Amino acid sequence: MGIFPGFLGLFLLCGMLHCIVECHVHYHDFVLKKENFTRLCYTKSMLVVNGSFPGPVIRVQKGDTVFVNVHNQGDYGLTIHWHGVHQPRNPWSDGPEYITQCAIKPGSNFTYEVIFSDEEGTLWWHAHSEWTRATVHGAIVIMPLNNTSFPFPEPDGQEIIVLSSWYNSTEDVSDIVAEALQDGGDTPDSDCYTINGQPGDFLPCSNDSTYHWQVEYGKTYLLRLVNAVMNSELFFAIAEHSLTVVGIDASYVKPIVTDYIMISAGQTMDILITANQSPGAYYMATRQYNTVRKNIDDYDNSNVTAILQYKEKYTPLMDPVFPSILPTYFDIVSGRKFTRRIKSLASIEHPTNVPKNISTRMFITAASNYGFINRSGEYETGVTTSLNNLSWVNPETDVLLSYYRNITGFYTPDFPDYPPFIFDFVSEDFAPDTVPTIKGTKVKVLEYDEEVEIVFQGTDLMRASEDHPMHMHGYSFYVVGSGTGNFDNETDPKGYNLFDPPKMNTVSLPKVGWVAIRFKASNPGVWFWHCHFDRHLTWGMSFVIIVKDGGTPETSIRKPPPNMPQCTSSSTIKLQPFHDFSRTGDKSN
Ligand code: C2O
Ligand code: CU
Repeated sequence: MGIFPGFLGLFLLCGMLHCIVECHVHYHDFVLKKENFTRLCYTKSMLVVNGSFPGPVIRVQKGDTVFVNVHNQGDYGLTIHWHGVHQPRNPWSDGPEYITQCAIKPGSNFTYEVIFSDEEGTLWWHAHSEWTRATVHGAIVIMPLNNTSFPFPEPDGQEIIVLSSWYNSTEDVSDIVAEALQDGGDTPDSDCYTINGQPGDFLPCSNDSTYHWQVEYGKTYLLRLVNAVMNSELFFAIAEHSLTVVGIDASYVKPIVTDYIMISAGQTMDILITANQSPGAYYMATRQYNTVRKNIDDYDNSNVTAILQYKEKYTPLMDPVFPSILPTYFDIVSGRKFTRRIKSLASIEHPTNVPKNISTRMFITAASNYGFINRSGEYETGVTTSLNNLSWVNPETDVLLSYYRNITGFYTPDFPDYPPFIFDFVSEDFAPDTVPTIKGTKVKVLEYDEEVEIVFQGTDLMRASEDHPMHMHGYSFYVVGSGTGNFDNETDPKGYNLFDPPKMNTVSLPKVGWVAIRFKASNPGVWFWHCHFDRHLTWGMSFVIIVKDGGTPETSIRKPPPNMPQCTSSSTIKLQPFHDFSRTGDKSN
């Protein structure tokens, strides 16, 4: 042992110096304020960061740390989440309101410490309080360590495209949602989608402001695409130009050459595009991928465009071409065909490390329900969504604080590993309240470093089966399998891909199907899991995983930062029961 301590000391010192030498610390101020915006001929005042919609881009290198001081000059409390950033040991800065913190009150500020580790590619940030993320969001760009070491030829340029939702109403979207829930109505549909904040040439009062992306003939660009819309998956394509997807959710994938992509809500993609067509103007377009029943016609059917424009001189003979290849709204075949092609890179520089010694298995049903048991144990009618028949209710003090300080009474550690009742989940023949849904605040507790498999199963209760973009905070997971119908725990695991499964933070649970994911619980903390459609999140489709400390300081949650916002006010969006007295007590529907 005698000769080693010196080496060991040097080694430790290098570890600490790592950040001083190679990574950087950045500081940003986010000022949240209401500003006027006009789209589709409507002008409204809405809350944005630093005056822009979408908000500012955060640029870092892999492994950097960013301090973001959020100044809330709006008129309600909110929080910010760094979607897909794993935040090792640092749930304090993760952001979801009532899960890891309480709201930053109007007139006050809070500094987030955003810790990057293994992420490389594109992510994004967004508000995580009620529906405020509709206008409060922006992209995060994470460059490789030496700025050029992409696992593909270095692109000649880069471009960011953020896809967002636009609501015409001058009323705040969160307030509309609160009212809708109050009278048992549905949540609002957006009036159109936008590309970098603009609806494009085919929508009213929009063609003067259509977004243009200038390219040079022969060059290859890295397009960083973010699906920031509130409630929908999207198709995206560029006329006459092929797309090569190289990364998803800040993790590299085997290149997928394709004419269109399907991007789930919350996902991000890195896509290579070569400007190799005759110089001119070409539309890039996006529209909703709608997996709900076709006969429901109230959805946002806007066809939203921006223009890819060559810098070279050309004679503009005609209007730009629309991408004829863009799948239509209900094209499930195209949606799935794309998703099935996603595989992780699994190279020496970017290896996969799929957990194979699973110690915790969970099987979680995702459902829309009508009727539920409220917190006083009474049956009520009304729409909810649930996971294993539990519909999440936010506690008044955030889960992280009550866990860290050992305060009881805000949650219980008994989220179940299985649904209460096994039936033919994908059949339409069951009443929406086949199994009662219970409102509550139940969390799943995991030991440090446990290897976990979760199979999510979609159900067709209320004939409401649709894709659910399931998102996990604090981790990326491997998507080892997916299929249609009911999951079969004997045959389906045999088809798992344990070799090059994609690593994601948001995966689409397919309509009347299932998806299996795996992760190793190596990041202690309190981590939110939820559907990234805000309407489903609002109705309760979420739960929380607590990963316990590993017994040493390096495997334990860090200390809370100073000035965590205090918990006082409660949410304006209340999961109010729908009182339809003609049905009270009638569970047969
Ligand atoms: Cu992008 Cu909990 O969310
Ligand atoms: Cu959902």
